[in-house]
Amino acid sequence: MAVITEIAPDLFRLSIYVPDLNLQFNHFLVRDERPLLYHAGLKGMFAELHEAMQTLIDPKDIGYVAWSHFESDEIGGLNNWLQIAPQAQPVCTFVGKVVSADDFSLRPALGMSANEILSTGHFHFRFYATPHLPHGWDAGMMFEEAEKTLFCSDLFHQFGDVSPLSSDDLTDATVEAMRQMQQSPLANYMTYTSSTGAMLSMLAQLQPQTLATMHGSSYFGDGEKMIENLSTAMKATFDAA
Ligand SMILES: [Fe+2]
Ligand SMILES: [Fe+2]
Repeated sequence: MAVITEIAPDLFRLSIYVPDLNLQFNHFLVRDERPLLYHAGLKGMFAELHEAMQTLIDPKDIGYVAWSHFESDEIGGLNNWLQIAPQAQPVCTFVGKVVSADDFSLRPALGMSANEILSTGHFHFRFYATPHLPHGWDAGMMFEEAEKTLFCSDLFHQFGDVSPLSSDDLTDATVEAMRQMQQSPLANYMTYTSSTGAMLSMLAQLQPQTLATMHGSSYFGDGEKMIENLSTAMKATFDAA
């Protein structure tokens, strides 16, 4: 079963480690009046995630399934969740809705514009359009303002079966992962363009306390500093590439 860790109040990380890839796939459940799942996960992980979620909420009560960009680890299992949760609505960026999600999804998505807020009851999530960060025209991020949690998708990607939550500096592990990716057939999975630095600065200025990462440890601490470090590392890695 997925490994469950509460990384902030009522924010649960459901993690599945895939040894062949030496990579964790993390999914986040926000327990609230209308529970929100961030990252639907791969279709092949649905049964395991469903089993884990049953220990936290009744999965039928999911209110929202949200994601950053249209890729299988973000959205593959979406329709499985929509089938078991009759009120659940898909949530993504406006570009994600019109370009991909509404054709794929059993039900139309809420297409969030920049700065729009989604409320799950107690928690409020502000959406940001971050085209091509980490990758994909449709990419976006959401920020929970009460606990200052940034759901940052593939940013801060780290390999290994690492700890669920860390206050150690993530920079070295992230730089090592980027270096490994650049030497593999999956090279250039992110880019660094003239707008990348500005988007990362905007995210840093949110001063997140928690970074909810899809692959690797989540982070608790000075999120602003971590994102500034990431921007420097991404420029060195991908601008040069
Ligand atoms: Fe991705
Ligand atoms: Fe991912």
